[in-house]
Amino acid sequence: MTTQPMPPEPLLALERATKSFGPVRALVDAQVTLYPGEAHALVGENGAGKSTLVKILAGVHQPDSGRLLIGGEPTVFNGPAAARGAGVSIIYQEPTLFADLTVAENIYIGRQPTRAGRRIDRSAMNDATEELFARLGVRLDPQRIARGLSVADQQIVEIAKALSLNANVLVMDEPTAALTSVEVDRLFEVVRTLRAQGAAVLFISHRLEEVFGNCQRITIMRDGQFVRTAPIEEVTVDEVIRSMVGRELATLFPKTPTEPGEVVLQVEHLSRDQVLRDISFTVRRGEIVALAGLVGAGRSEVARAIFGIDRRSAGTVRMTGRPLPNGAPLAAMAAGVALVPEDRRQQGLVMELGIDRNLALASLSRLRRFGLIRRRDERSLTAQWAQRLQLKFGRLGNAVATLSGGNQQKVVLGKWLARDPSLLIIDEPTRGIDVGTKSEVHRILDELVSRGMAVLMISSELPEVLGMADRVLVMHEGRISAEFSRAEATEDAIMRAATGQTSEAAA
Ligand SMILES: Nc1ncnc2c1ncn2[C@@H]1O[C@H](COP(=O)(O)OP(=O)(O)OP(=O)(O)O)[C@@H](O)[C@H]1O
Ligand SMILES: [Mg+2]
Repeated sequence: MTTQPMPPEPLLALERATKSFGPVRALVDAQVTLYPGEAHALVGENGAGKSTLVKILAGVHQPDSGRLLIGGEPTVFNGPAAARGAGVSIIYQEPTLFADLTVAENIYIGRQPTRAGRRIDRSAMNDATEELFARLGVRLDPQRIARGLSVADQQIVEIAKALSLNANVLVMDEPTAALTSVEVDRLFEVVRTLRAQGAAVLFISHRLEEVFGNCQRITIMRDGQFVRTAPIEEVTVDEVIRSMVGRELATLFPKTPTEPGEVVLQVEHLSRDQVLRDISFTVRRGEIVALAGLVGAGRSEVARAIFGIDRRSAGTVRMTGRPLPNGAPLAAMAAGVALVPEDRRQQGLVMELGIDRNLALASLSRLRRFGLIRRRDERSLTAQWAQRLQLKFGRLGNAVATLSGGNQQKVVLGKWLARDPSLLIIDEPTRGIDVGTKSEVHRILDELVSRGMAVLMISSELPEVLGMADRVLVMHEGRISAEFSRAEATEDAIMRAATGQTSEAAA
């Protein structure tokens, strides 16, 4: 890449773009240039303006000022159709397929090939879809119903749709956040295929190892401002992080050694249909127990069965000795359990309510005095958590929907932490959260545990597991396949247990 000169004509260039939402300046001076055949990373902290830039390229937002050039020609997208027509397609993190239509119907919706001018020609449509998948090098049945497809497969369908629209610029806004590592590899295979066909891919991710492993150039943004664009081999991870956050970062995990106290959570012989089999473990005061394993191993299901969202078919769950009733989240909350779900945007927030109300939502009973909620208490609680989590917002009264994706995640975190539970179950604590705030989240967890909270942490990030956990339970196909103390746990040992290559010690 270093010796090859860039082709002279970019497919797309955004110059000096600005965009404000009322008083919030989301983009101050944004720019990006995409050449054919490149995977181009766009990175920046939560709220830096990445998704806003994407929405400008998508024709969803119009910039207040600045220029967009497509193939060198100044262009205005007055809507999403104009962007699509110009060959720009967007792949969002949560795909938007119609569940009851087939894969092929989703791709050709509204423009199905017809026979004799009227009837939809299904076989032509299915053949064309086969051909798209062949071009992408993936196997997927065009005739299956979209319902039940994995997020990864749904993204592939969206990419095939983009191809069918002759897109030569594909923009992917955090496409890998919900994928397993195998699925991430397949996505990048597809990206390579697209590049070889002359397309440009703009790729957004908070996982810098993905960026460094798969992209040729990188553009860094900070506070709505363009910082720099560089070929990937001319920058280091540390430099990128420094440019993103504008300061030095302590990247080490802030783990304080603690002496675990009495048992807070005791799970015995927990089972749920075909999903969970005979799970037993404890979590004690002042202890972080990590549930490691591959996506789909049943980790989130354990959390849901403890909290009572799903009913267990056998087994008991006790909080400080008292059994929790089956399938009763309110009883679990009353017993001091808090659950920060994996899918925060859907399960954790009331989008149209203010940031302050969302933060205070789980603490209402604590804030209530003589039956009244004192606004002043609510405000000081929410202001305090907004500051600790480095939330980027306009006003605390603004709707949560106006926050960037990562900042919405922080609100859900803050909402449950503010409740000060005796057991915190936290599913993927730092997913979607930028590198700067990540270590802050770890610091807050460490502090809460030092004060006696018990934490059950589900994480797919091995450094996070190794850095934060006192004990590691590894799950494989609905069972606990191994347990490691902090001293015993290694990346290798965890991966082996997670893929079912268990040693005789486990069982
Ligand atoms: N519709 C809106 N109304 C008000 N403010 C908005 C709106 N959309 C975005 N913002 C603000 O613009 C800023 C940039 O948000 P954006 O979503 O572009 O960030 P991002 O870089 O994608 O962050 P993340 O990594 O968290 O996804 C944020 O401060 C956000 O609150
Ligand atoms: Mg975003």
